[in-house]
Amino acid sequence: MRTIVIIPTYNEAENLPELVSALFALPLDLSVLVVDDNSPDGTGQIAEELANIHPDRIHVIHREKKDGLRSAYLTGFKTALQMDAEALVQMDADFSHDPAVLVEMAETLKSCDLVIGSRYISGGAVDDAWPNWRKGLSAFGNNYARTILNVPIRDMTTGYRMWRADAIRGMPLGKVKAKGYVFMVEIAYLAYCLDYRIVEVPIYFADRKLGKSKMSIMISFEAAWRVWKVLIDSCGMRRKGKAARLG
Ligand code: GDD
Ligand code: MN
Repeated sequence: MRTIVIIPTYNEAENLPELVSALFALPLDLSVLVVDDNSPDGTGQIAEELANIHPDRIHVIHREKKDGLRSAYLTGFKTALQMDAEALVQMDADFSHDPAVLVEMAETLKSCDLVIGSRYISGGAVDDAWPNWRKGLSAFGNNYARTILNVPIRDMTTGYRMWRADAIRGMPLGKVKAKGYVFMVEIAYLAYCLDYRIVEVPIYFADRKLGKSKMSIMISFEAAWRVWKVLIDSCGMRRKGKAARLG
C-alpha cells in the first residue's frame, strides 16, 4: 500500500534525520511529508537537505509560522491525497511513536479504515519518565473525551494513526474546528460517527529524549471546552451500536 507518513514539525531538528532513517528502514512502501512551521531551530532546512538526498521519498511543506496541529495536518492530508497515497500516517517527530509499529499498523489497515496506536488498551503504555502531570492529563483527557462523546475508542488523543486514504477523503474535514491537539479527538470522533471500521493496536509512548514538547495550557483549555462543542456540533451524525464494530 502506497503510504505517506505526515510529520508535523516545530523545532525537531535533532529528531528528524534519525526518524527519517528509521522509517526508510521499514519493509513498507512509504514516503514522508514534513509539515514545518518555520521552526527557529532550522528543522525546515534540514528537511530540505533530506529531501535533496531522497527526492522521491521526502517532501516538505514550509509554512510561515506556527499554526497548530489542525492546519498542519489538514495541509498534509490535502497534499498527500494529491500525491495519490493509499494510506496516510499521522506521527510525531520525536520518537514517542516507535516507527517499527507501522508494520503492524499497515497489516491491520488491510481490514479496517483507521488504525489507532493506543496507549490505553492491553499491551499499551506510557513512559514512566513522562512527567506525572502529563500522565494524569493524558489519562484524564481521554476519559473526559470518551465519556462526553460516548465512544468506545480507548485512546482518543493519540497522535499515532494510520488511515485509508479513502477514509480521509470521505471526512468533512472543512468542518473540523479544533486547532490544537484536540484535533485528534475531533477527527477520531468524526471517523466513529461515519461508521468507519476502527481498530486500536497497542503502543508504548516513549517520552521524547531530544527537544521540547509544545503542549501548553492554552492547548489543554481548548481541549477541555472543544470536546463539548464537538458533541453539540455533531448532533444527528451519531449512530448507535458502534461498540460491536470496534476491534
Ligand atoms: N507544524 C507544526 N505546527 N507541528 C507542531 C505544532 C505546530 O503548531 N505543534 C506541535 N507540532 C509537532 C511537534 O513538532 C511533534 O512532531 C508533534 O507535533 C507532537 O508535538 P509534541 O509537542 O511532541 O506533543 P506531546 O508529546 O506534548 O503530545 C503528544 O501527546 C498528545 C496527547 O496525547 C502527542 O502525541 C500529541 O499528538 C497528542 O495529542
Ligand atoms: Mn512529543
